[in-house]
Amino acid sequence: MSSFLITGSSRGIGLGYVKLLASKSASEVGKVFAAARAENAALKQIISESAGRVEFVPLEVTSETSAKEAAQCVELSLGSKGLDVLINNAGIPSQTEGGIENMTDLTEVLNVNVFGVHNVTRAFLPLLRKGHLKKIGNISSSLGSMALSAMGKFQPTPAYKVSKAAVNMLTVQWAESLENDGFTILALCPGWVKTDMGTEAGYLTPEESATGGLDVISRSTPADSGKFFVINLPDKEIGGQKIYDGSVRPY
Ligand SMILES: NC(=O)c1ccc[n+]([C@@H]2O[C@H](COP(=O)([O-])OP(=O)(O)OC[C@H]3O[C@@H](n4cnc5c(N)ncnc54)[C@H](OP(=O)(O)O)[C@@H]3O)[C@@H](O)[C@H]2O)c1
Ligand SMILES: *[C@@H]1O[C@H](CO)[C@@H](O)[C@H](O)[C@H]1NC(C)=O
Ligand SMILES: *[C@@H]1O[C@H](CO)[C@@H](O)[C@H](O)[C@H]1NC(C)=O
Ligand SMILES: *[C@@H]1O[C@H](CO)[C@@H](O)[C@H](O)[C@H]1NC(C)=O
Repeated sequence: MSSFLITGSSRGIGLGYVKLLASKSASEVGKVFAAARAENAALKQIISESAGRVEFVPLEVTSETSAKEAAQCVELSLGSKGLDVLINNAGIPSQTEGGIENMTDLTEVLNVNVFGVHNVTRAFLPLLRKGHLKKIGNISSSLGSMALSAMGKFQPTPAYKVSKAAVNMLTVQWAESLENDGFTILALCPGWVKTDMGTEAGYLTPEESATGGLDVISRSTPADSGKFFVINLPDKEIGGQKIYDGSVRPY
């Protein structure tokens, strides 16, 4: 019975994780902390049907104060227990017309996608140390991979790509720092998902992405810490190919 906290759970992939975790048996998944800036109708419904297992936690990831208050709120709810899994999912896209020379949004995008996530992780670290699983999944993107960068060349989102490359290195830094403490810290590519960010053209529903992500997180061990995985959906074919196979992606 493990506890989870998901940031950016109001919509998209984060909401997909909350729905998936709420549907699991209470012996498998204990408390699910749905962290978001606001408790919207979708979250209210899941929470009201969860018999107390899903709890809303207010969290604006760019506010250190909010992150600390969120951690206090979770600590109060867990009592003497720790938090088992943190899923850093909140993030924003970027759009630059005219290529890298016109990129003016780097500060804003790094603030949410990198500094915000880093501060949230710092705020929850004491609770994660007390947890049984000590797992952190950072939702990254293959667009942040330098080795695969040619694949995303046509997408005019330089600030987003830079931010996800930074998420990848931060994941490695933390994995190295906590390697003797039993932690498993992964960067995860969620696939191309039908959300506000991914648009209707995406290949996967948020629930499918969450299923494939949870599979990788569940199976991972400390030996996998610091690696960059794509989600695992063995039955899903995209254009005749199984591209979401849980494999390690190159940074
Ligand atoms: N969709 C894809 O195909 C795809 C592919 C690769 C990676 N990803 C990554 O997957 C993650 C989720 O993406 P998504 O497609 O689900 O995006 P989305 O539909 O745009 O949802 C983004 C979520 O992040 C939250 N958020 C944004 N800024 C925040 C802040 N300052 N504080 C707290 N929460 C904040 C949003 O909350 P509000 O509702 O309050 O705005 C929302 O819940 C992101 O890290 C994204 O980079 C997505
Ligand atoms: C992160 O925390 C530092 C202090 O530790 C603070 O200066 C910074 O503004 C915070 N940034 C975000 C995005 O939360
Ligand atoms: C950069 O942006 C300006 C307007 O902000 C625009 O006039 C210009 O065409 C853009 N550059 C390119 C290469 O698209
Ligand atoms: C990713 O994971 C580590 C794990 O502790 C965390 O500290 C780091 O800040 C996370 N977020 C980002 C943006 O890398």
